[in-house]
Amino acid sequence: MIEKMTNDDLQYVCQLEEKLFTSSWKLKDFLYELNDNPFSCYFVYKINNKVVGYIGEWITFEQAQITTLGVDPKYQGQGIATSLLEHAILFANQKQCEIMSLEVRVSNYVALNLYKKLGFEIVNIRKGYYQDNHEDAYLMIKPLGGNL
Ligand SMILES: CC(C)(COP(=O)(O)OP(=O)(O)OC[C@H]1O[C@@H](n2cnc3c(N)ncnc32)[C@H](O)[C@@H]1OP(=O)(O)O)[C@@H](O)C(=O)NCCC(=O)NCCS
Repeated sequence: MIEKMTNDDLQYVCQLEEKLFTSSWKLKDFLYELNDNPFSCYFVYKINNKVVGYIGEWITFEQAQITTLGVDPKYQGQGIATSLLEHAILFANQKQCEIMSLEVRVSNYVALNLYKKLGFEIVNIRKGYYQDNHEDAYLMIKPLGGNL
């Protein structure tokens, strides 16, 4: 049910993105990520061939960074984000990454719970990180297996 995101998924991904985020990525942003960014890896979660969730990460040498994660509101609370994040972690481990990081709005307690559940820890606060409302972000990290 989890597959690599392709250009064909982008119509649905962009619809979800607009629903889920106040500062949403546009089609051109995803097109760049899928086709021109050599560090990016994006996955979709499909049910009956329909995109209901997606995740992105950048794999830069020993570091992995989650760039986005979203699940269709109709399908939330069913473990889909957990599966997507576990998939991204596994993928980064296979690429010998040593650490995974992400930023999350300090008010986003649902996402915070998810990240803590999967072993991420808050290591810093990035003041005024979000451009739309100047909200702070928690920087969270999780150690990975690396070459060990
Ligand atoms: C955050 C988001 C991706 C979670 O997706 P989801 O598929 O509903 O998450 P899951 O069902 O896998 O739940 C994972 C964990 O999140 C937490 N969680 C989920 N729903 C919650 C709720 N309503 N209240 C509190 N915690 C909640 C729990 O810790 C849960 O684990 P548990 O069920 O074992 O207790 C989804 O809410 C979403 O798309 N939000 C909008 C976009 C967003 O904020 N993305 C993250 C940006 S950093």
